[in-house]
Amino acid sequence: MSDVTVIKPKNIFTQNKHLLDWVNDMVSLCKPNSIHWCDGSEEENERISLLLVSNGTCNKLKRGKCYYCQTDPSDVARVEDRTFICTHTKEEAGPTNNWQEPREMKYVLNRLFNGSMIGRTMYVIPYSMGPIGSDISHIGIELSDSPYVVCNMKIMTRMGEQVMEALGDSPKFVKGVHSVGAPLQPGEKDVPWPSNKSKYIVHFPEERSIWSFGSGYGGNALLGKKCFALRIASYMAKNEGWLAEHMLIVGITNPEGEKKYFAAAFPSACGKTNLAMMTPALPGWKVETIGDDIAWMKFGADGRLYAINPEAGFFGVATGTSEKTNANAMKTIKENTIYTNVALTPDGDVWWEGKTENKPEKLINWLGNSWTPESKEAAAHPNSRFTVPAYQCPVIDPAWENPQGVPISAIIFGGRRASLIPLVYESFNWEHGVFTGAIVSSETTAAATGKVGEVRRDPFAMLPFCGYNMGDYFAHWLSMAQKTEAANLPRIFNVNWFRKDRKGNFIWPGFGNNIRVMKWIFNRLDNKADGIESPLGIMPAPDEIDFDGLNLSKEQIAEMLTVNKNDWLLELNEIGEYFGMFGNHLPEAIKNQIRQQANRILDMKN
Ligand code: GTP
Ligand code: SPV
Ligand code: MN
Repeated sequence: MSDVTVIKPKNIFTQNKHLLDWVNDMVSLCKPNSIHWCDGSEEENERISLLLVSNGTCNKLKRGKCYYCQTDPSDVARVEDRTFICTHTKEEAGPTNNWQEPREMKYVLNRLFNGSMIGRTMYVIPYSMGPIGSDISHIGIELSDSPYVVCNMKIMTRMGEQVMEALGDSPKFVKGVHSVGAPLQPGEKDVPWPSNKSKYIVHFPEERSIWSFGSGYGGNALLGKKCFALRIASYMAKNEGWLAEHMLIVGITNPEGEKKYFAAAFPSACGKTNLAMMTPALPGWKVETIGDDIAWMKFGADGRLYAINPEAGFFGVATGTSEKTNANAMKTIKENTIYTNVALTPDGDVWWEGKTENKPEKLINWLGNSWTPESKEAAAHPNSRFTVPAYQCPVIDPAWENPQGVPISAIIFGGRRASLIPLVYESFNWEHGVFTGAIVSSETTAAATGKVGEVRRDPFAMLPFCGYNMGDYFAHWLSMAQKTEAANLPRIFNVNWFRKDRKGNFIWPGFGNNIRVMKWIFNRLDNKADGIESPLGIMPAPDEIDFDGLNLSKEQIAEMLTVNKNDWLLELNEIGEYFGMFGNHLPEAIKNQIRQQANRILDMKN
């Protein structure tokens, strides 16, 4: 390391041999010009933000320490087809994950990372997922050659000096190395958004390490989020008896002042951030946010399931976010926010589709071209995002950093389905609830590269995030029932905000009106709504959901709350085929559930 410049603030002091040896190895491999040990200070953050501006990666907005970044047009979303789970055997990764033999993959990665940081700085980013020092938290170290990643990790995680202190000499940290894969030869001019056409997002769950190459964007590059807090953590959770899930966590208080916490799993860009901080359309109801994307859950001494949000910020979808749809998000992102791939207004602010009813007359779109309302292209990329500290949310829950977590009364699954899936139903029991999560399907969104709007199966909204065999994951969920008494288990519901009519318009108004469905769920838990048994589960009786003041016809309400026999027979056929690929990893209980569900559907009158 002799010819490498080392930037190491005085307050960053570590003798952790495991860490130092690994950093040395990675420096020898990646060959950065300098190493910067991040202390997580405000001063450091400002310095790196200014660097991003001088590199041309970011613009500073006039408003409250906000920045605007434009990525390379080929680096705009998670790359699921380039994401790998490298367990020792292919069977352990299961049929839903890309897999390669670990030694072969290491060989490939060693070649890619060799000299990949030439001409760049390697940042050493110590971060904690969960409050620093809490029993439920875990530490990660990300080595990255992207200053954009440093500024985002500073918002999304607890990052810096105190994490290094909490780690001490322990070998217990998740190793993550990230390179944009764009070495700079002496004299070579940098581009605003360096990246590489070839991308690899690779996980070695057994050794708890992550190698990410070629992308600087979101879940590909901010390794604490999907890579660690979901893929690696789900593997840890299976071995240690807890749950790492793609779920928001929200506290809801009814007009009588009773509060309950809910966790909800919806696939990417299917409404988690919105539900987590919605402005309820019903008077007297209150919504408070614990988290908007990831939940780590464990049973507490009282036998209830407790959840924490391992993140410290929101990496939220900008597109569609407005005062009308999500006023709390709009308040959250007033300052200290990084906007990525949105459009720029002539007065130096940002805009995206849906932000205001009237489109601005003139913009610079996310590609850097001038744009007018007549333009055919979108002004902002559909996966444009904001990165913002969670504490800025005006309805952040007082318990959001409580290391004990919050007790979960119900788990809610959902997806984006234009037809078939009713507005809401409750599963009959835990086992049927696990089945309900296992059969989640959703239209694909711009959060990942590939086609948008294609229905695919997405069990538990975890298809892209499960770090092991999905069949074993179902078994793990089923096994939770043995950990406590049935009465302590959260009840399990399913929702669909996205049903469309024949003209292609959403039937359900969604957003703040989703409180009407949450109210029914709340009432079910309090034995205040009997519901009606349907083949899918318990559905609301017609008068049990408060549709007051909505412009919904009887037919529209009926459409959202019916089960169509023929459509469901086709769906169950497809589910059966899909489950077939798990072979002997598919739990018997799930096979029984599909049989029972099919029988209930067959028993329906036409
Ligand atoms: P990720 O961050 O990718 O995990 O997404 P998410 O699940 O947090 O989704 P988010 O809340 O950001 O919503 C994604 C898109 O769906 C946004 O454009 C929202 O405006 C829109 N959306 C959210 N909730 C609703 C709803 O109830 N109805 C309708 N029609 N659209 C919604
Ligand atoms: C998702 O895709 O579910 C996200 C965005 O939350 S990313 O961090 O890019 O994965
Ligand atoms: Mn997400």
